[in-house]
Amino acid sequence: MHFKTIPIIHGNRLKGIYVIGQNMTELNRYRKELENLYHKHTLILNSIAEGVCGIDKHGNIVFWNPAAERMTGYKAEEAIGKASHDIIHHTKKDGTPYSIDECPIDLAIQDGKTYHISEDIFWKKDGTHFPVSYTVTPVLENGAVVDAVLTFTDITELKKTEEFIRTSEKLSVAGQLAAGIAHEIRNPLTAIKGFIQLLQFELDEKKPYLHIIESEIQRIELILGELLVLAKPQATKFTKSDIGVLLQHVTTLLETQGILHNIQIITKIDPSLPLIECDENGLKQVFINFLKNAMEAMKSGRHIFIEAQKKDEYSVLIRFIDEGCGIPKEQLEKIGKPFFTTKEKGTGLGIMISKKI
Ligand SMILES: Nc1ncnc2c1ncn2[C@@H]1O[C@H](COP(=O)(O)OP(=O)(O)O)[C@@H](O)[C@H]1O
Ligand SMILES: [Mg+2]
Repeated sequence: MHFKTIPIIHGNRLKGIYVIGQNMTELNRYRKELENLYHKHTLILNSIAEGVCGIDKHGNIVFWNPAAERMTGYKAEEAIGKASHDIIHHTKKDGTPYSIDECPIDLAIQDGKTYHISEDIFWKKDGTHFPVSYTVTPVLENGAVVDAVLTFTDITELKKTEEFIRTSEKLSVAGQLAAGIAHEIRNPLTAIKGFIQLLQFELDEKKPYLHIIESEIQRIELILGELLVLAKPQATKFTKSDIGVLLQHVTTLLETQGILHNIQIITKIDPSLPLIECDENGLKQVFINFLKNAMEAMKSGRHIFIEAQKKDEYSVLIRFIDEGCGIPKEQLEKIGKPFFTTKEKGTGLGIMISKKI
């Protein structure tokens, strides 16, 4: 019960007291329910992975949940009271300013419509940006906008996955093309090569030209050979194999070439490596490609280190470390694209094929 007292005054004298009693059971129940509801909503807003930002009709932030803090680096107390456009949406990806007139967040407040933007960028406190998809929903009261809610998701991972799918698609198209080209060209090439070898016996004074032709044909064969590895609908056979033994095998294969260039291959393989379920021939091809690249990047008298160790319960880390020229930063993203090579006699297919495998 809640009691309220009202004195009854007559003349200047207190004549009595009204006591009004109110049963508070219902009211307390409503209050509790309201508190519960508030608690639940706060819990939801605090725990969801999406950034949630409340914006008033002037474009200023009035609410900022922990996910928004995490994504942008702005704490709630730093964001609240500022214009959302000014802190997270001021500049386009190309560096030009984002005018408030074309900002969907502001538009939603102006025209009372919901806007969904599947790809844009938001800015962080540290001056970097991240890709987002976001929705602005105006909150209407009697037909007038009073607030807006902006929800946003960081789509960095999504974009990475999309990029991965795109490259794998490109690779499989490259594989199909390669199959066609390689088969079509290889047969006539073999015939031509045979005739050239025959001619060499007869045309003595023209021999230098024939040599050039022959070495060019050899180069084409080299490219076709690599393309065929890529194209073959390989009968990949997965067996439990000892990676250490595989690596030793490949090292032995290339050791003579190393000795020729005075390059020493040093292996450091953890003897306790578990057996790995893999396609041995495929892996060998990858190891050879890496070792060849390492050798080609070095002058004589240097070392290549091959290290293999258990990384965690499910993976093994294999490293090919060379003392060669290294790879300039700006080239890194081109490496592995078909035909990208910096070598005079390179094919630019080794790493792409390794990736494919
Ligand atoms: N170990 C390495 N050291 C320096 N550069 C490398 C190394 N491995 C690969 N590269 C670079 O990557 C390019 C592509 O390699 P790859 O696909 O094997 O083709 P290729 O060896 O025929 O050029 C090379 O031309 C070279 O510029
Ligand atoms: Mg190579």
